[in-house]
Amino acid sequence: MRQKIVAGNWKMNKTFQEGKALTSELVGMINDEVRGNVKVILCVPFPYLDTVRSLVGQSSRISVGAQNCSEHASGAYTGEVAASMLKSIEIPSVIIGHSERRQYFAEAGVLLAKKVDIALANGLTPIYCCGEPLEVRERNEHETLVRKQVEESLFHLSAEAIQQVVIAYEPVWAIGTGKTATAQQAQDMHAVIRQHLAGKYGKTVAETITILYGGSVNAGNANELFACPDVDGGLVGGASLKSREFTDIIKAMKA
Ligand code: 13P
Repeated sequence: MRQKIVAGNWKMNKTFQEGKALTSELVGMINDEVRGNVKVILCVPFPYLDTVRSLVGQSSRISVGAQNCSEHASGAYTGEVAASMLKSIEIPSVIIGHSERRQYFAEAGVLLAKKVDIALANGLTPIYCCGEPLEVRERNEHETLVRKQVEESLFHLSAEAIQQVVIAYEPVWAIGTGKTATAQQAQDMHAVIRQHLAGKYGKTVAETITILYGGSVNAGNANELFACPDVDGGLVGGASLKSREFTDIIKAMKA
């Protein structure tokens, strides 16, 4: 059985005080209401990581993730955060290659492969994001592009290493727009990604890899999206900033 995961990506939102309040509310609601084997990851801004991790405490369900890391090990890279720093404050996962990093910070293929490598070398789980802009889908080239994104940043990994990676499919046109992929569109692309992984690593390995859907997931559409056989959970932006709604999304993931 693949691990089911619902991750919240706070992006660059919330003050420290608001973030602490949200975390406390969430921990209470999740502990009270969520059952089954779904894991929750709160991907919060760097300055909040250590505090949010403390507030989460020794939960077996909830953990904390970063939203990015440097491709470099350490040194003179002002403003950057190393994977080893995340490890040293016991952060177990990191988002890599989010479409906003690709779009606004020109991150792509080889660079993202280096980030995946350094995350894995530090024992972190990379949550590797892929997904097509609207014009690519309109040209019907979305499957080709997403296969390429997966290939160029992940296919250098061994079969053992790829199984440490979580993949998130986030169509750019569905992020923060209120426009969600239909369950069928999500399932189709997740199946394409899994088949591509199977082609490279074999079916058994491909079947173990968690693939999340992201893009305007909310409490109203989560049930349908999460019911798709190849959708193993969600990477949630805006709706993860609201404790009631995010808890309801987590409860929609039957595991
Ligand atoms: P929204 O849920 O706000 O569309 O954001 C999705 C996302 O980018 C999660 O990483």
